[in-house]
Amino acid sequence: MNKFSGILSVAVALMVPAALAAELHAEAKQQVMGFAKELKGALQQGVKEGGFENAISVCNVKAPEIAQAHSAGDWQIRRTSLKLRNPENKPDDWELSVLQSFEERLAAGEPATTLVASKQENGEFRFMKAIPTGKLCLSCHGANLTQNLEQKLDGLYPQDQARGYSVGDIRGAFSLRKPLN
Ligand code: HEC
Repeated sequence: MNKFSGILSVAVALMVPAALAAELHAEAKQQVMGFAKELKGALQQGVKEGGFENAISVCNVKAPEIAQAHSAGDWQIRRTSLKLRNPENKPDDWELSVLQSFEERLAAGEPATTLVASKQENGEFRFMKAIPTGKLCLSCHGANLTQNLEQKLDGLYPQDQARGYSVGDIRGAFSLRKPLN
């Protein structure tokens, strides 16, 4: 191998993963958009039909269903948070460290809407995108819940920590994984 082809093969070896990573990022973002859009639509519909108390069942039952439906192909998608409502959404070690870094990046001035992180390890691509708290979220995750809603949530989620949020806070993150081969 001469010097030039040596350099070339190193360059190619570096470029291929970079191109692959960009493609995986784009795919992951697409998955998140589809999931988020359907979830928000279901939430708005649920509120319209029977108010926020009715919409609790959208988050409670439909969110995992929609997540399942969007875990199409090789992608798996879920939601997680530092302050959980449902303990089943508990972050694993990597998710926990990313959620913590999102809080630091937010404090340093990055908007919650653009925070993402990814890694490739053990033949798997993982991706996370922060979920900002919007006005719609406050009825069920804010500081001033109605008494009825509070009672209903207390019944379903006795260990609920996902209250007291304000607009612009990071409510949690979408977390995706896809095997690479
Ligand atoms: C009608 C009430 C309601 C509204 C409005 C609502 N949520 Fe939730 N949220 C819930 C419930 C109930 C759960 C628990 C779902 C489950 O059991 O997996 C939940 C869970 C979550 C989780 C998963 C992590 C956890 O804490 O278990 C995230 C992330 C989340 N909500 C974000 C949002 C965001 C962002 C908005 C606004 C766009 C929003 N929610 C609006 C009721 C609501």
